[in-house]
Amino acid sequence: MSDYRLQEIQRRFGIIGESDKIKEIIETIVQVAPTDITVLINGESGTGKELIADALYNYSLRKHNKFIKVNCGAIPAGILESELFGHVKGSFTGAIEDRKGYFETADGGTIFLDEIGEMPLETQVKFLRVLESGEFLPVGGSKSRKVDVRIIAATNKKLGKEIEKDRFRKDLYYRLKTITLTSPALREHPEDLPLLVKKFALDFANRNQIAFKGFSPEAMEIMKNYSWPGNIRELKNFVESVIVLQKGEVISSHHVHKQLGLDEMPVSNFSPNLPVKISKTVEQAERELILKQLFLLRKDVNDIKEFILQDKNMDFLQLSHSSDIDYPTAYHQPAKPVFHREIPKEEDFQEQEDESLINMSKIGEMSMADMERTLIEETLKKFGFKKRKTAQALEISERTLYRKIKEYGLKE
Ligand SMILES: Nc1ncnc2c1ncn2[C@@H]1O[C@H](COP(=O)(O)OP(=O)(O)OP(=O)(O)O)[C@@H](O)[C@H]1O
Ligand SMILES: [Mg+2]
Repeated sequence: MSDYRLQEIQRRFGIIGESDKIKEIIETIVQVAPTDITVLINGESGTGKELIADALYNYSLRKHNKFIKVNCGAIPAGILESELFGHVKGSFTGAIEDRKGYFETADGGTIFLDEIGEMPLETQVKFLRVLESGEFLPVGGSKSRKVDVRIIAATNKKLGKEIEKDRFRKDLYYRLKTITLTSPALREHPEDLPLLVKKFALDFANRNQIAFKGFSPEAMEIMKNYSWPGNIRELKNFVESVIVLQKGEVISSHHVHKQLGLDEMPVSNFSPNLPVKISKTVEQAERELILKQLFLLRKDVNDIKEFILQDKNMDFLQLSHSSDIDYPTAYHQPAKPVFHREIPKEEDFQEQEDESLINMSKIGEMSMADMERTLIEETLKKFGFKKRKTAQALEISERTLYRKIKEYGLKE
């Protein structure tokens, strides 16, 4: 497809980006939109799945017919089935009359099933039937109805993983995934960030009649390197808020740092709760944070130990300005006075090894994953397997903790 045509389509649907990833998406939209084929859109939150669904509908032959959007995650599981397929009078308490469901209402048009990964298993059975034959039974009904509806579904869950957990039907997955469009995370196409920033900034400044003088090149660089866990949605909100706060000024790297909550100061002020400033996966970032905590903890233990020893045997110690702890470079500590033992005795080593979080004799055989696993396991034990307290202590989300427990097969 010519670049000109591509740009025209992008403008029409408000999809910004010149990266190959975005171009591929536009090309697929153009290929599949005019057919009746079912499309599954997956990708992290805030990456533009709904924007893609809108484009698929608007570029389809059904664009003059109904387009119904249903968020399967927002409708309580108990009523989703009746919302989708309708119900007949008296089928349950409160069903005082026959009611059409979304599929019947969308007949001849398109239905967008957002967060399809949240659809309860029983509803999935009925949905599969609609996909295959266009037929369904309203709740409490005995006569099948048939509709002609084009289906677009989206999810930010990995459906393959949901199948493993018996939360998603395999047959439905295979039926849905024939045409899958993957909306990329922003950190996978940072080259599109300047264009997105410009568009969001100008739109917002015009709408609100605020002066906007642009971002400095350094500010743009920081934004390109930030991991944007909330993707384009987060970027849009960020741009809008930074413009409001820095009205009329060129937005500098300092403003960006501040607004993103990133730390420009030495690591001693670093808070592990803040977003990660480099393009890393969430997993890598978490692992590094855990490692950093380990080092800091170990240092604290050593400092306390030295302090106690100093009290007991002052002449045995000397004040030193170097630490014997090797920090990972990203978290390098500013040199600050630590008590350093001059002539360690064998039993001191023994004692140190027992209290140390890292078994130094295992260095070289131990992976980051081993260390992470040990830290999680020990913290769980310390808090009597209370997940909330453990997650708080580790400064990770409970969801992440559950995932790690599963991943490492940790048991109470
Ligand atoms: N390529 C893009 N160009 C311009 N705006 C975009 C792009 N992708 C996403 N956006 C904007 O980002 C915001 C989030 O997009 P959208 O709602 O489509 O994300 P989503 O993937 O559906 O997220 P969720 O999974 O949380 O529902 C919207 O304001 C959308 O307009
Ligand atoms: Mg969405």
